[in-house]
Amino acid sequence: MNSPVMQGLNINAPSSVKNPKVLAWVAEMAALTKPASIYWCDGSDEEYDRLCQQLVDAGTFKKLNPAKRPNSFLALSDPSDVARVEDRTYICSAKKEDAGPTNNWMAPAEMRATLTPLFDGCMAGRTMYVVPFSMGPLGSHIAHIGIELTDSAYVATNQKIMTRMGKAVYDVLGVDGEFVPCMHTVGAPLAAGQKDTTSWPCNPKVKYIVHYPESREIWSYGSGYGGNALLGKKCLALRIASTMGRDQGWLAEHMLILGVTNPQGKKYHVAAAFPSACGKTNFSMLVPPEAAFAGWKVTTIGDDIAWIKPHADGKMYAINPEAGYFGVAPGTNMHTNPNCMRSLDKNVIFTNVALTDDGDVWWEGMEKDGGSVPEHLVDWQGKDWTPAIAKETGAKAAHPNSRFTVAATNNPALDPQWDDASGVAIDAFIFGGRRSTTVPLVTEARTWMEGVYMAATMGSETTAAAFGAQGVVRRDPFAMLPFCGYNMSDYFQHWLDMEKKLESTGHTLPKIFCVNWFRKGEDGKFVWPGYGDNMRVLKWMIDRLEGTAKGVATGFGIAPQYAEINWKGLDFSEAQFNSVTSLDKGAWADELKLHTEHFAQLAYHLPKELEETKAQLEQRLAA
Ligand code: GTP
Ligand code: SPV
Ligand code: MN
Repeated sequence: MNSPVMQGLNINAPSSVKNPKVLAWVAEMAALTKPASIYWCDGSDEEYDRLCQQLVDAGTFKKLNPAKRPNSFLALSDPSDVARVEDRTYICSAKKEDAGPTNNWMAPAEMRATLTPLFDGCMAGRTMYVVPFSMGPLGSHIAHIGIELTDSAYVATNQKIMTRMGKAVYDVLGVDGEFVPCMHTVGAPLAAGQKDTTSWPCNPKVKYIVHYPESREIWSYGSGYGGNALLGKKCLALRIASTMGRDQGWLAEHMLILGVTNPQGKKYHVAAAFPSACGKTNFSMLVPPEAAFAGWKVTTIGDDIAWIKPHADGKMYAINPEAGYFGVAPGTNMHTNPNCMRSLDKNVIFTNVALTDDGDVWWEGMEKDGGSVPEHLVDWQGKDWTPAIAKETGAKAAHPNSRFTVAATNNPALDPQWDDASGVAIDAFIFGGRRSTTVPLVTEARTWMEGVYMAATMGSETTAAAFGAQGVVRRDPFAMLPFCGYNMSDYFQHWLDMEKKLESTGHTLPKIFCVNWFRKGEDGKFVWPGYGDNMRVLKWMIDRLEGTAKGVATGFGIAPQYAEINWKGLDFSEAQFNSVTSLDKGAWADELKLHTEHFAQLAYHLPKELEETKAQLEQRLAA
């Protein structure tokens, strides 16, 4: 057998890579996937520029007009590869029960027997990029290291923005550090002499997004898009990290983290879980309406993922393991999210938005920024698009799941502590789905138990962030349905255990709130204005933390009274307020039936306290 050093030479590893496990693994994977060459990413800006130019030359990137959008690029994906593929995502724990009823499962040996032949030669004719990255500040005790092997330069450039990527990771790893091996291929090998016929190679037919939680490995085949391919994000920082959290007593959550500071300088920290494309990025960058909230400020710590650890002082501290935003473009404009628009001024990778005739980007929602809908665009599929064509065919200029990739440091509202390895102490958790009916604008859980119940039974209408039907209500507990790396009922128990762990310290636990920005009126339109006006709801939560708002007890938690919300600068009548806060008896009877079905599906290991809480809720709603 080759010594690791020999293998290191064979694979042209830089001398800074001293970890024999890394060297042996890269050698083994290169032997399996048979790339034409291996490139070790150093994470430098010079390298990023070079890879971007390479992607331009290959036709994957189009360089945008530097006068309008400096140092920015547009990529258009294959139309078959536009979102996460939940039905192709697997948790391959040794025991099926540990993956639980909400995850696809296959026995590890069987999955390996499926994947090995697929990966055999899968990188033929391509470069294998070795992408070392840290989730969380480099070298910090809370960070975890991953190394992604990918045959996609698009992935390498995105990882540079989304993670702390580069050769410094090898110094942290040393000779015996731990890392999560992340295998990724677009699944489109090239025969000798064959050239790509597409600017977005992928495998339109075969896709696998596979996790082995016990050995902490990720294997992704066939897709180049987002969470399927940027393996630090959903695969490592949620699915693998949630299992680490279960074993080690912490939480990996699909949550934004924000700071909110009042005019006196008092600061609160809030973590909020909304399902994919349900408002995390927007809420994390919220601009408080000036008329009502002069002197208030919201700052972003993270927009998608939170790692949360209980501390000996009785508080829960949260960090954002990411370094960038992979955010939804459509709907983003200067009215809905000005901080986001300013973040996108320069140094951005756009994927699947539309291209204007003067070399800039466009998506649905931008027409609200003073201008109008452009007369001509190239749409996300590379086709001509005009308002007339759109009217006739319904074609969207930008794909509904089109995204931007941008560094957190581009965000003008970035919190000074966003990079702090100790994290921020959470004062409140918020859970919110996308529901046209039934679920009120905001309620507060009376207890930790009730909050866990609300989160565990949360429903949401499906969005374009995942492949499949849209607008269908499904249970999405804790906004973690697609991201929990183990049995969902064990995860509920893990949340319940946090209370016991923390209350022994005598500190009050974070309050838990439930929100719904998306109730619709009879006209089919959203009743609640949302976006910046969500500050009005956030302020009520702070008043509850401070004990200055009384609220009113309802069948489903404590709700605000109309007069407790600051309405300055917004014309929102009490009747409108009632239409987004009322609890409809019939709708709730149906809703509870769905909770029953949900709990029946999760019966194995379901904490009995959740059943008890449901019984209490039924009584209250019937009263
Ligand atoms: P992921 O990145 O998929 O996890 O999504 P996210 O939760 O960060 O969602 P994001 O903030 O990107 O919002 C998704 C879509 O919902 C966008 O089109 C937004 O314009 C829209 N949206 C966000 N907040 C609100 C709101 O308060 N009201 C309404 N009506 N729409 C909103
Ligand atoms: C989500 O779907 O929740 C996302 C986008 O944040 S992706 O990175 O593709 O998972
Ligand atoms: Mn997300």
